[in-house]
Amino acid sequence: MITGFPTLSGTVDRVFFFIAAVSLLILVLVTASMIYFVIRYSRERNPHPEDIEGNLLLEAVWTLIPTVLVLAMFYYGYAGFKYMRAAPKNAMIVKVTARQWSWLFEYENGKKSGELNVPLGKPVKLVMTSADVLHSLFIPVFRIKEDTVPGQETYLWFIADRPGTFDIFCAEYCGVAHSAMLSKVNVMPGDTFGGWLKEGVKAAKADAAKEPQEDVSAERGASLVAEKGCVGCHSIDGSRMLGPTFKGIYNRKVVVITGGKEREIISDEEYLKRAILNPGADIVKGYPPVMPSQEGLLTDGEVGEIVLYLKTLK
Ligand code: CUA
Repeated sequence: MITGFPTLSGTVDRVFFFIAAVSLLILVLVTASMIYFVIRYSRERNPHPEDIEGNLLLEAVWTLIPTVLVLAMFYYGYAGFKYMRAAPKNAMIVKVTARQWSWLFEYENGKKSGELNVPLGKPVKLVMTSADVLHSLFIPVFRIKEDTVPGQETYLWFIADRPGTFDIFCAEYCGVAHSAMLSKVNVMPGDTFGGWLKEGVKAAKADAAKEPQEDVSAERGASLVAEKGCVGCHSIDGSRMLGPTFKGIYNRKVVVITGGKEREIISDEEYLKRAILNPGADIVKGYPPVMPSQEGLLTDGEVGEIVLYLKTLK
């Protein structure tokens, strides 16, 4: 327990172990009596069957005890659930956007990240939504999981009670790269986190105010590629993922399938723009036709910046 709050994992685990212990006890009792009855009341020992009258005491006992146990399970479960749904007022808010197939975390000062960085021992509230289909944010180590829904906000909260790096999964089937929709939660001491949170925010604001220059906008292209989730399916180091790698993508000769027919093209600027806005038009041979169109999700300027960035990946 840190900062006066019990951790959610403690709350969840207590109910889990209580139910597991009760189940184990009942399993042992039932199995033991079954074996005892098989032996004690076998036909060999009891050649003449006899009727048994009811036993009021026994019936009362086996009704009351399970009722009390089940009510206790309900009480612990419900108390834990209420606690999980009541985020503390002072919780730090992080906006979460899920999309096919990446997570984006946005902080109150405008900082954006593809991984969830949080301070140790402070309550964090995740306000979540989805840009496309249903996803589900799942952080097993903190025992929290909640769907993200397009056009709607859902939330979760937790207190990280140990430093380290832990897994984030998508727990709702959301398409071909669902299993690759992974991220990390990095729990850091308060001052380390404070430093990280400030890092780069002022510079980004100053950049946005400046007239876009060639290299500046290629840099912005690089952060867009991370934010918009492109790197969930396209590597920048040449390795094969769900989609073709970005490495050396500019002016590469590629075989694409256009309207069912193969043809060879050069992936010039025009092709790259088309591949972002209308990815189904020319599918690179050997890859599934799964990329969601970014039409309306990216501005023309942003598409330009991404293409500029792709040109730098030689
Ligand atoms: Cu997102 Cu599964």
